[in-house]
Amino acid sequence: MGRQRIFSGVQPTGNLHLGNYLGAIRNWVEIQSQFDNLFCVVDLHAITVPHKPETLANDTEAIAALYLACGIDLNYSTIFVQSHVCAHCELTWLLNCITPLNWLQDMIQFKEKALKQGENVGVGLLDYPVLMASDILLYQTDKVPVGEDQKQHLELTRDIVNRFNHQFAKPDQPVLKLPEPLIRKEGARVMSLTDGTKKMSKSDPSELSRINLLDSPDEIAKKIKRCKTDPIRGLEFDNSERPESNNLLTLYMLLSGKTKEEVAAECQDMGWGQFKPLLTQTMIEALKPIQEKYQEVMNDKAYLESVLRHGKHKAEAIANQTLNQVKAAMGYSLLI
Ligand code: TYM
Repeated sequence: MGRQRIFSGVQPTGNLHLGNYLGAIRNWVEIQSQFDNLFCVVDLHAITVPHKPETLANDTEAIAALYLACGIDLNYSTIFVQSHVCAHCELTWLLNCITPLNWLQDMIQFKEKALKQGENVGVGLLDYPVLMASDILLYQTDKVPVGEDQKQHLELTRDIVNRFNHQFAKPDQPVLKLPEPLIRKEGARVMSLTDGTKKMSKSDPSELSRINLLDSPDEIAKKIKRCKTDPIRGLEFDNSERPESNNLLTLYMLLSGKTKEEVAAECQDMGWGQFKPLLTQTMIEALKPIQEKYQEVMNDKAYLESVLRHGKHKAEAIANQTLNQVKAAMGYSLLI
């Protein structure tokens, strides 16, 4: 038997932040050598909220460059862009026709984002999870490493698989594979720097709420200096009354590579005035190699394009195979 397949993706909407890195990409890097991996820049998802056409292409390349900068290794992994493989849209249409509307209306992220957009909610935002399911299912994916906020979308993907196979496949010959979410405990939900009870998010209007992977040392220092804390001396994990303490200690733990026990012991008597410079320094040092590699890749657009072209061909071959199986199961005649 070959290696199990991993699929995951990030939207090219704005800068990547520490939540995207610690909740997703860093985990991809750590486990990639054990799997056959496809990492996608999901640019079709990026237009489900208002977007800027003049920056979309560059933002898409920037995310691919960040994948490489964070340590995605082309010996194990394929990097490609969602809109380069037409099968994503086609499978979405086919799956739309078997997905009940109320499943989509129940999605937390849809409700949250729709609320923000008022009356101007596009059909694409509602359909976002079906496109995401198509991404995953086209590659007969075994595992999907994501942050905690994607759990519900993964459950929906599994519901769609069961429904499709039940309607169109023989019980012992499923057409679509049932994927499993891979959500790590630590880093699965990185919280905002300005409110430890809210998720760190690209769409938060305050830049101070998040650390972007490409923030300069000065920006990092400023954001940590101004981040929310509490009046208590001594830092601790897992005290629900102190969400900021738990979040910032977790960031320190993940970025320093120390264990939870080591960090708890080191920081239990520290005041914020002592901890903040330590966290700042650790963050700057952890992000420096990523930022340097990112610049290197972005300065060599020909290389980046060749990576994406290769990725497209590899992804397309797998995706088209699944798409044909789905169409055949649904009764379409195929001209192959
Ligand atoms: P996106 O771009 O919003 O997020 C990318 C990844 O970052 C994780 N993440 C977080 N993890 C921890 N703490 C946070 N504060 C935080 N914020 C974001 C997300 O869980 C995600 O893993 N819908 C997906 C993109 C997608 C996808 C897919 C993922 C489209 N198709 C197929 C997997 C498989 C998303 O949320 O992207």
